Amino acid sequence: MLKKNLLALPVALAVAGVAYAGSGMLPEDALEMQIKKTNSSSYLTQSPQNLMMMPDNPAWEVVEAGEALFKQPRGPKNASLEKCDFGKGPGVLEGAHAELPRYFADTGKVMDLDTRLVHCMKTLQGFTNDDPAIKQKHGSKTDIMKLQAYIGSKSSGMPWNPPMNHPLEKAMRDAGEVMFYRRSATMDFSCATCHTQTGKRIRASVLPSVYDAADWTKAISWPAHRTSHEQVRSSQHRVLECLWQMRYPDIKNGSDASIAMISFWTDAARGEPVIVPDLKR
Ligand code: HEC
Repeated sequence: MLKKNLLALPVALAVAGVAYAGSGMLPEDALEMQIKKTNSSSYLTQSPQNLMMMPDNPAWEVVEAGEALFKQPRGPKNASLEKCDFGKGPGVLEGAHAELPRYFADTGKVMDLDTRLVHCMKTLQGFTNDDPAIKQKHGSKTDIMKLQAYIGSKSSGMPWNPPMNHPLEKAMRDAGEVMFYRRSATMDFSCATCHTQTGKRIRASVLPSVYDAADWTKAISWPAHRTSHEQVRSSQHRVLECLWQMRYPDIKNGSDASIAMISFWTDAARGEPVIVPDLKR
């Protein structure tokens, strides 16, 4: 019975995929382009099952739920998020994720998708940090994840292009670079220990290299459905997981340090296409 339901699911999701008449390119097409460009890199082609599943990515359901939430008047101020400015003007979602993190004059800060979304949920809708809408950060059932999946999908196929005009944008990227190469904690790992060589594996996983932008874009393409978690995950969640893996203390969601890391890793994929929603191990 369960199996039957699982088989029925992709059909419904395939329809959702077709209905998606968004921005640049479907994620599976952007990924296919990268596979050709890299002559079938071992990182991009490591899971034939995932490649086959891409058009039926369970993340599409989360994207759809996110679209409904985005347009729905909510919170104490009973407002939708349609006036939220993600950097390209109020309500402009096309290509917005591809240009984050970026500096926002209204807060005087460099913000990523997560922190900018929370900012709008507070200022436009009146939610506070204690409301579940903001407090629950992780998993496909959370508002934050649904909204990020929807907004992120509107950049699929567009080149990563986080602006580096404001001094703070540059400073955040540079701070992230220092974090990436700094060895620390009980295992004395840096991110670079595992992410600066091409084609190396840890057990079954092929590790993406930060020097290989054509591969790296898939590594940093979040939101993505993680099959091993059966959840859609965010960039902020990936940063948390990487540091946890390195036996670091938990990083604070939305902290400047987390945004710095995301600034650095996005800059390293500059010019390569966003693949969102992606499907990962
Ligand atoms: C001990 C080796 C190791 C270290 C150190 C490490 N990673 Fe990873 N990283 C991995 C492995 C293995 C995966 C694949 C995870 C998986 O398949 O679940 C991964 C996955 C990732 C991904 C997602 C890749 C994908 O395919 O979706 C990103 C981005 C990433 N790491 C960034 C970092 C950053 C940033 C740091 C430092 C804060 C870091 N990693 C530290 C081993 C490491």
